[in-house]
This record gives sequence, structure tokens and C-alpha cells, in this order.
Amino acid sequence: MSSGWEAGADLVVVGSGVAGLTAALDAAEAGLRTVVVTKDDVVEGATRWAQGGVAVVLGDVPGDTLDAHVADTLAAGGGLNDLPAVDAIVRGGPGAVRRLRERGALFDVRGTRLDRTREGGHSAYRVVHAGGDATGAEIERTLVAAARSAQLTVLDGHVAVDALRDVTGRVTGLAVLSADGEPGALRAPAVLLATGGYGLLYASTTNPATATGDGIALALRAGATASDLEFVQFHPTVLHTGPAAGQRPLVTEAVRGEGAVLRDRNGTAFMAGVHPRADLAPRDVVAAAITRRLAETGSDHVHLDATGIDGFAARFPTVYASCRAAGIDPATDPIPVTPAAHYACGGVVADVDGRTGVPGLYAAGEVARTGLHGANRLASNSLLEGLVVGERVVRAVLADRALAAVSAPAEPAPALPIADRAVVQRAMTTCAGIGRDATGLAAASDAIESATVTAVPTGRAGVEDAALTLLAQAVLAAAGTRRETRGCHVRTDFPERDDVHQRASLPVRLDAAGRPVVVADALVGAA
Ligand code: SIN
Repeated sequence: MSSGWEAGADLVVVGSGVAGLTAALDAAEAGLRTVVVTKDDVVEGATRWAQGGVAVVLGDVPGDTLDAHVADTLAAGGGLNDLPAVDAIVRGGPGAVRRLRERGALFDVRGTRLDRTREGGHSAYRVVHAGGDATGAEIERTLVAAARSAQLTVLDGHVAVDALRDVTGRVTGLAVLSADGEPGALRAPAVLLATGGYGLLYASTTNPATATGDGIALALRAGATASDLEFVQFHPTVLHTGPAAGQRPLVTEAVRGEGAVLRDRNGTAFMAGVHPRADLAPRDVVAAAITRRLAETGSDHVHLDATGIDGFAARFPTVYASCRAAGIDPATDPIPVTPAAHYACGGVVADVDGRTGVPGLYAAGEVARTGLHGANRLASNSLLEGLVVGERVVRAVLADRALAAVSAPAEPAPALPIADRAVVQRAMTTCAGIGRDATGLAAASDAIESATVTAVPTGRAGVEDAALTLLAQAVLAAAGTRRETRGCHVRTDFPERDDVHQRASLPVRLDAAGRPVVVADALVGAA
């Protein structure tokens, strides 16, 4: 990309959620010249919308252990987790939460210790939370406040376009569009992607408008591998207020953790016969059961009966406010809920120190596939991963510094396939949500193809739409290749799990024409 302006840094962090800001703060404290690039305001990422909390074993809950947390993570992940990554991240949790509290985060307390809740798939009450159901907001508040007084530069309203690379492929910086659309270059030997997921592939999502898969698209174009992209997690319960597009209010799983029960339109509690943990089954199981029940009863929502929870408004102020805004009183009314796209279990293949296969390019948080989540993320493991890997990546950047390259000239921005966003969202929602088959996946691919033009993205919307187009193609390629049902990937034409032929993660790369393809059937770190 031709650059009108240039600046230099030791580390460029793209994204301002929990992983990005944790890394940026640690990097600045370590003396690295750090620049954070964020396309919206610094507080607009997905982190602040997280409700449930951080899953962490602090040693003060009788009967709970780090091993139990590891076991629950593996059980939820459907055989595709990477055990060393699970181990490292779970065991890194207590220290990371302690450091976050030292930065000022205030978690809810009961008596003399932190209060805990429970969510789907957890065998113990181990989720620490803040502000009742406003954990993400408290973490974001803490990190943004620390960032504002730290020695780092935040470029908000700036859009990351592509990685700059030298002839060896090593990353040497980032091509950026400034807030007024001026192309520029940030020269740096290390670029950390912390851009979150791609919930905006779907018409209805818990994610904010920033979740357009930009980081994964950028990494693929830089030569990185992505994996587990077919495992899009649908949160079982978002508030249903009629047909609507875009971000929907989350109804945290902790509401079921505190005793709420899912009921169909006839008032029948339907989870008891589905899984031994009933309403607290892992969320892929709950979301799929709701989807089946909706089809069986011809309804577009089920109900979450929280009328038995005392003090709902105080314990869940965020959910309560969303419900009241929709004219629902959870103390007396069942809450209408439906599943919606929530979390990308896969992403850019990276180790637990954030290193991708491309020298100089790092990834942390939802954008990355470290192997923690496998085929389905355990609730409240995402903030945990962002905190732990956000710290570890800075140590990796410092260790890799001696290898850093010098800058290379910026290339002109390439023309990219860009499809109409509404067509992408309609096709993915109809054919690649919970319940996919070969015919639907092919139809989605055709629909997106015929709505695609090739153009040079010139602003934020163009960059985002190019990313969504690439991610749609990649998810469809992976979902078409995985001919089984596992975790949050439900194939109605292959309803069983196939541990003989399919027990491997599917690596996705760009081919010579820039199209995402599943490369062979190489294994990416399955446990
Ligand atoms: C929730 O509170 O239900 C969402 C938390 C998460 O996705 O981990």
C-alpha cells in the first residue's frame, strides 16, 4: 500500500480488548515503544460485552482443582483441544487474574473471598465476575484506565489494512488507514493481532459491529495458517425481541448457573433428557437442543424461566436492564431467548505465546487458535485466554527481538474480493449456522460468489467487507470438509462424530489465487 505517513514502534497491537490491552500495557512497562491501533473508540471491542466472567481456579473453592478445569475444557472441546495449550492457559489463570486485580479490577466478593458462579460445562462454581453480570465492562474499564496513563500511543479510528513484509516474508510493520482515510505505515518488527472474532458473518450475534474477522483475513493474506474456523459458537440465550439483525443482548449462562430453566412454548423443561448436566450442559449441546426444539414446536424462541432467582435485578443488572427495555420483568415473566453467533473457537494458528507461523506476526485472544477451545469453547475461558496469552506474548516479542528485520518498502494495496455484506450474512445465517449440510453450504458459497466484486478497499467498510468475504469462504470451505458433527459444528447430513477419519483440526491457507482452501488433512495439534 502506498503510504502518505509513516511512524515507527517496537510493537504494534491491533485491537483494544482484553488481550490487546493486556499485551500493550505489559509491553509499555517493559520499555517497548508500543502503538495500539483500533478501528473504533478504544472501548468498543467485544470484551466489554462479556457478562459471565473469568473461569479460574484460585484454590479457595473446596473440591475444585486446576485439573478439573482442564478436564472440563477438554470435555467441552470435543477432542480437538491441544492439551499443552489448555494446561498452560488454565494454570496461567490465577497469576493473570491477580495482576488484573493489581491493575484495579474489582471483582464481586462474598464474605472474605471472590464470589463465584457456574456456567455450562463447568463441574464447579469457578467463574469470578464483576458488577454482577458486567465482567467484561469492568475489565475493559480497568485496562483502558491503565492504558490512558501508560507510556503508549493509542490510534483510535485507525484501520489495519495489511501486514508489511520483507522479501523473506517476515513482518516489518502494518499498513494502516488513518481516521481520515489517509494511508500510512507503522514500521515495527512485531505486530500483534488482537482483533477478536467474526460474529458479523451472521445476521444475529452477541458481538459488537467491530467483529468482522479483520485480523484473521490480514493474517491469511500475510501467509499465516488459520484453523478450526468451522467451529462458530452460538450462544444459547440471547434476548429475543422479534426478527432483528445485528448485535442482540446476551442473557448470560450464569442465569442458568443460578437456577434458571429453559422451557419450550408449552412450558416443558426440555434439557433434562438431553444431557446429564441438563440446563448446564456445554453450550454447543444447549444451543443445538434449543434449535431442535424450535423446529419441533414451530416457534422462533424458547423461554428462560428465571422467576425462581431471588434478587435477579441486583445479581444480573445488565440482563435486567435489557429485559426491562423490552418490557419483560424477569421476576415474573419468562425471558424469550434464542441462540445467536457468539464466539469464534478457531482463528489464526498461534502457540500459547502468540507466535504465528509468520515471523514477526503474533495473535492473541479470540483472533487466535491456540488449541484451548477445540471444537467448542468452555464458558468464560475467553477472558482467561486473553489475559494469559496477552501477558505471554510480550515475553515472546522481547525474546524474538534479536531476530527482528529492518523495514521494507510498502506495496500498493491489492484488489480483494468484496461481497455485499447483507448477502453474506443472509447466506451464512441460512446455510452455515447451527445445522449445516452439503447442499446448503454449496448454496451459500454460490450466493456469496455471485455477490462478489474485486476492488481495492478504500475505507473501514471496504476492509471489513473484504475480511467478511474471506472469512465466509474459509468457514464454508472448512465446514464442507468436516463431514461429521462435533462441538459447535453440526452437520445434519453427517449427524455423528467421526473419530476415525475426522479427529484433526483443519488448516486453512490462501491458495495462489488468494482463495482460502483447506490444506490436505494435516493435523494441527490435536490432543
Ligand atoms: C455468558 O456470560 O454466558 C458468556 C460468557 C462467555 O461467552 O464465556
